[in-house]
Amino acid sequence: MSDFDWGKGSYEPTAADLLPAARELVAAANIQPGEHVVDVGAGTGNVALLAADLGARVTAVEPAARLREVIAETALDRDLTVVDGTAESIPLADASADVILSNFAVIFTPDPAAAFTELARVAKPTARILLTTWQPGVLSQLVGVILAALREITGRNVGPQFTWHDPNALAGLLTPHGFELSGKTLALDVVAPSAEAYWETRIATHPLGIATLPLLEQAGRLEEVRNRVLTTIEEDWTIPTGEVRLKAHYLLATAVR
Ligand SMILES: C[S@@+](CC[C@H](N)C(=O)[O-])C[C@H]1O[C@@H](n2cnc3c(N)ncnc32)[C@H](O)[C@@H]1O
Repeated sequence: MSDFDWGKGSYEPTAADLLPAARELVAAANIQPGEHVVDVGAGTGNVALLAADLGARVTAVEPAARLREVIAETALDRDLTVVDGTAESIPLADASADVILSNFAVIFTPDPAAAFTELARVAKPTARILLTTWQPGVLSQLVGVILAALREITGRNVGPQFTWHDPNALAGLLTPHGFELSGKTLALDVVAPSAEAYWETRIATHPLGIATLPLLEQAGRLEEVRNRVLTTIEEDWTIPTGEVRLKAHYLLATAVR
């Protein structure tokens, strides 16, 4: 699921949803002025911009060209360099980062072991690595409706192949590189004016939706899947005003050597 362009469609509404987690991630990193902070899978720059505002020297690593442009346009005179790269291939020298942060981004790597080998290569011996990963809950339930239909249509095991929510699985990626992991679970509310608005802005025009929904449409399954997602949101996640309020949970993991 990582060989598509995150610059297509509109990632921006989701970036706004994830900003509170970016704030938690940056706060937990205890960034000091002048430190070199690397934001891996920077998106529109949620984490990179916050870190730069704390006086860090920031490198934003992002594979999508359009999103790199968004960061560069927003960065203005901040000490922020935007580079093309992925978690598996970061164009930085060995032991050059004081802090490596990734807000719901390393989780899209096609090769978790290679990604963490690369993060460990770029990390100074004293560096800390902090990342966020979703916990099972409403978001995986909604995405699961789409993934289940895609599996039936393609016959392939699409979707995450690694248990990113499991701290022990994460530790298994980091301990070979000398890191010890700690973590805490936090809540994040995703709010939309209605179930239809949620579908439109967080699924249909989201880069993942742009990449996958045409397959559902070609197979004649789009309407059925959309109705199942809307019904789940309307029945379980709509408050009396009609507004949608999804309560998601995520792991904020910290790794130090
Ligand atoms: C859910 S978005 C998170 C973006 C940003 N960190 C934020 O807080 O909004 C996932 C990001 O991961 C990036 N991405 C996809 N595959 C990646 C990979 N293999 N390594 C690093 N980033 C990747 C996407 O381009 C996208 O910007």
